[in-house]
Amino acid sequence: DVSTPQWRPTYHFTPPQNWTNDPNGLIFLNGKYNLYFQNNPFENKWGHMSWGHATSTDLVHWDNLPVAIPEIVTKDTTTYIYSGSAVLDKNNTSGLGKDGKGPLVAIFTADKPKQHNESQYIAYSNDGGLSYTQYAGNPVIDLDKKDFRDPNVFWYEPTKQWIMTVAMVDEHMVRIYGSKNLKQWTRLSDFGPAGYTKSGWECPSMVPLVVNGDKSKVKWVLFVSAFTDRGPGMQYFVGDFDGTNFKSDNSATETLPVDGGDAFYAAIPWRLANHKATLMGWLVPGKPDTYPWRGQMSIPRDLSLRATSEGLRLIQQPAITIKDKLNTLSADGVFAMESTDLRDKEVPLPKAGKTNAYWIDAEFAMADVKVAGFKIAQNKDLPGNDIIIGYDAIKQQLFIDCTNAEKNNKQPANHIQAVHMRPMKLLNGLVKIQLLVDRNSVEVFGNDGEKVITTEIYPDAKSTGVSVFGNYVNVSLKLWRMDK
Ligand code: FRU
Repeated sequence: DVSTPQWRPTYHFTPPQNWTNDPNGLIFLNGKYNLYFQNNPFENKWGHMSWGHATSTDLVHWDNLPVAIPEIVTKDTTTYIYSGSAVLDKNNTSGLGKDGKGPLVAIFTADKPKQHNESQYIAYSNDGGLSYTQYAGNPVIDLDKKDFRDPNVFWYEPTKQWIMTVAMVDEHMVRIYGSKNLKQWTRLSDFGPAGYTKSGWECPSMVPLVVNGDKSKVKWVLFVSAFTDRGPGMQYFVGDFDGTNFKSDNSATETLPVDGGDAFYAAIPWRLANHKATLMGWLVPGKPDTYPWRGQMSIPRDLSLRATSEGLRLIQQPAITIKDKLNTLSADGVFAMESTDLRDKEVPLPKAGKTNAYWIDAEFAMADVKVAGFKIAQNKDLPGNDIIIGYDAIKQQLFIDCTNAEKNNKQPANHIQAVHMRPMKLLNGLVKIQLLVDRNSVEVFGNDGEKVITTEIYPDAKSTGVSVFGNYVNVSLKLWRMDK
């Protein structure tokens, strides 16, 4: 295996070594973001599924901690620790706490490959989430099913109980359970099938979010992951939760994608105070091997809802915790370009850095313009390999175009489709683009988080050029190098 430092992200989470997929057990405790993650502690490929663990105060720098929940191996059976969630049981409803203090409780799927069984387990921690003990009464829910997984649990104050959403994978349904003690669960309702149902549903989660910043207006969003014919995908439903049922407002004919690309998957939220939530997803790796790690997380995304002419829509913005610190996170502060006229020009950004790790906030004034945006991963010795990211004012689409990279690169990502688009309108002739490039990923946020597209890229170490282009455009931008 050849080491691939050119693809190691600088401001996205990767385990120091070995495989990761889904984020698990996201919980904010005592000023620290806890990230557990699907992890193979022994190899750089999926297997031996366990919960890896890392914590961070700023969502950029991570302290890597020992495996928190290892696979369970006995003489005649192996139990994988699949995806799930973690809660602080403050009032010790479970009775699993110690010395008058409530435990942390992890709720996850125990997958038994030999028995073709997936059931829900709990495990508890009385050392702040470093290590967990399996509950002696496991499983807490067993329907004798092969595909039944990814419980996500939260406290629901109005009925004073724990609520779980869990995937009935092949039925394309989310089953909702309630519990007073995290041990006995009562089935409350089923949601679905609805929206995208061509493949198995995984990793459901449900959060209340504020609408248009008005704290008195709260609606619920239900997230579901499913692999589509374009690759990994997520959809969301906006609606109401009354403690028993989730009722969706989505139109019966429309599926709402969370992300327009082909990498963002299995995302779950950190639930924060005052109906705030930050979503983190797994970025599904492309074809080339990265080593000595494989798999990474997305940028954490602060969530909210905005009223649009089409209805309430999800807004995702790169976590403010990171955004606020860019000047100090950057290698050389901020580089600003004010109102540059781009009349049919391609303007290189020499400050973009030596490596493909940077963050750009840009605003384009698109008078008479067809297309404007950025060309990245440029290399003057290998012209025509670049990846184009921008806004097409004729098609009214935000896009990432990897056609050249897929055709010419020595290391194409092997996307099912090379072009990713999301419909988006100009706002008074302006378009805002936030472009987060981090070695082997691209995340583009349009119009303050109205649309997001994420994909994986595999440029060689020398293809790091960036330019901004457009015809009859004014652009103002800020750029932060992120390869300090
Ligand atoms: C999603 C998923 C989950 C499962 C986990 C296993 O990527 O398939 O449904 O719990 O990965 O690693």
